[in-house]
Amino acid sequence: MSDRLDVSFASLAADPEATLAVLAADGLELGPKAKEIDSKSAGAIAKAAAVADFKGKYKSSVEILAPAKVSIDRLIVCGLGRPAGLSEQQLVDLGGAILAQLQARKGSSASILIDIEGTDDLKAEMVAALIAQGAMLRHYTFKKYLTKKPSEEQAQDKDGLKKLVIHVAHPDKAKAAFQPLKAVANGVNFARDLVNEPANILGPVELAEKTKALEKLGVEVEIFDVKQMEKMKMGSLLCVGQGSERPSRMAVMVWNGAKGNKKQKPVCFVGKGVIFDTGGISIKPAAGMEDMKGDMGGSAAVVGLMYALAERKANVNAVGLIGCVENMPSGSAVRPGDVVTSMSGQTIEVINTDAEGRLVLADVLTYAQETFKPKLIIDLATLTGAIMIALGKEYAGMFANDDKLVEDLTAASKATGEKIWRMPLDKAFDKMMDSKNADMKNTGGRWGGSCTAAAFLQRFVNKDTPWAHLDVAGTAMDGAKTDTNTSWGSGWGVRLLDRFVADFHEKG
Ligand code: BES
Ligand code: MN
Ligand code: ZN
Repeated sequence: MSDRLDVSFASLAADPEATLAVLAADGLELGPKAKEIDSKSAGAIAKAAAVADFKGKYKSSVEILAPAKVSIDRLIVCGLGRPAGLSEQQLVDLGGAILAQLQARKGSSASILIDIEGTDDLKAEMVAALIAQGAMLRHYTFKKYLTKKPSEEQAQDKDGLKKLVIHVAHPDKAKAAFQPLKAVANGVNFARDLVNEPANILGPVELAEKTKALEKLGVEVEIFDVKQMEKMKMGSLLCVGQGSERPSRMAVMVWNGAKGNKKQKPVCFVGKGVIFDTGGISIKPAAGMEDMKGDMGGSAAVVGLMYALAERKANVNAVGLIGCVENMPSGSAVRPGDVVTSMSGQTIEVINTDAEGRLVLADVLTYAQETFKPKLIIDLATLTGAIMIALGKEYAGMFANDDKLVEDLTAASKATGEKIWRMPLDKAFDKMMDSKNADMKNTGGRWGGSCTAAAFLQRFVNKDTPWAHLDVAGTAMDGAKTDTNTSWGSGWGVRLLDRFVADFHEKG
């Protein structure tokens, strides 16, 4: 992981770092500590605010340099808006926005002062923890392959901030509230690292091996090699990797965290882990193909999620499974027209070798159901370009066979701001997958590409297993920069699914 931000909590009485951010609510309302700074420095905040027309609007800010009579070099007053109306997500975003402000200034350390009252619903320590999480997410960068050191000035400007101290009335409580939020941010950043890593470094074997990092958190990890998958008759997954020099793998991560009922059926998460998708013999055009190093974004999210659940010791039984392959053209590659037999026994005619993600997921879905008899399954996959045509890069497509699952995922989506939009599963799409030469084919023609892909997957899901498929082709990578993400690999889905587990599968 790239340089981590060291976040700590201190009391309101403790001396802040030389660069200090304070909060101001709508109408330039300051907390008691910020008021004290203002009056000590002869109304510096009020004066600057008047000049800059700063009124405390959410995410606006004003900077005061070298205010008199206080031991602060830079004071950045950050707008909180109307505190009563703020959602948790808005506070996380605010944390990201404040971090960006602090990073744009000199210095390797900074403080944020959170001297607001808080309410019963949202206590000051929770505000502090949410802002801290946003800061951690925003701080993430992927620079491991930049060997040229930036000039001293650039280094100060860009990579300078290493340490963030958050001053709040009850630092111990804030630290405790931050613990699970930090775990989630670590999971997101772990997933981002996996997506950003180029495919020459992160092959199928390496991606699978990365899951071993979760063992230190108490996750049981098992990795299956080609021989073992041949034995299990995973002909669908294996045909995708057969053109590559680098052997395929499946990694299974088991977190048995359920406290009351150890035998609780697990929730299962399945990820597409195509470490690079050339398209195979149905090769892709050159332009933009480099982005296909991110075709394991679904599996990265699954690994990041399992990381988060384990680090925060989630009270749940959860299993993460990823199919890791490389889709390459070669003399040994699968051809259009080939017929393969999946682990389920169903045969598939490969019409287009670029529709490979579904071939991988088919066998991992079968394995997950046979082995774990899950309470529900959610798969994540950068499955189709068509989902970006339909929904752009803001929304992931959600296909599901269960309305309650849709409802719960939608609620988790609203809470975290990771947006999803329900798409149809329909017999008509299913029919488009019929083949004359096998039980099904792997593409469904020109129209509704995301819907036929989902219909294909559904053929590998038991009717009575609640299942959702998230097509994350638009969101896993190369999205718009946000307050909490400036990375190409976004780690999309970790926060959504962590919240889904926390709100709907950890109680009772
Ligand atoms: N990995 C791609 C989908 C993709 C495209 C993800 C762009 C992210 C950005 C997937 O394997 C694929 O190639 N899908 C084909 C399916 C088609 C051949 C039926 C597609 O969407 O064109
Ligand atoms: Mn493809
Ligand atoms: Zn792909």
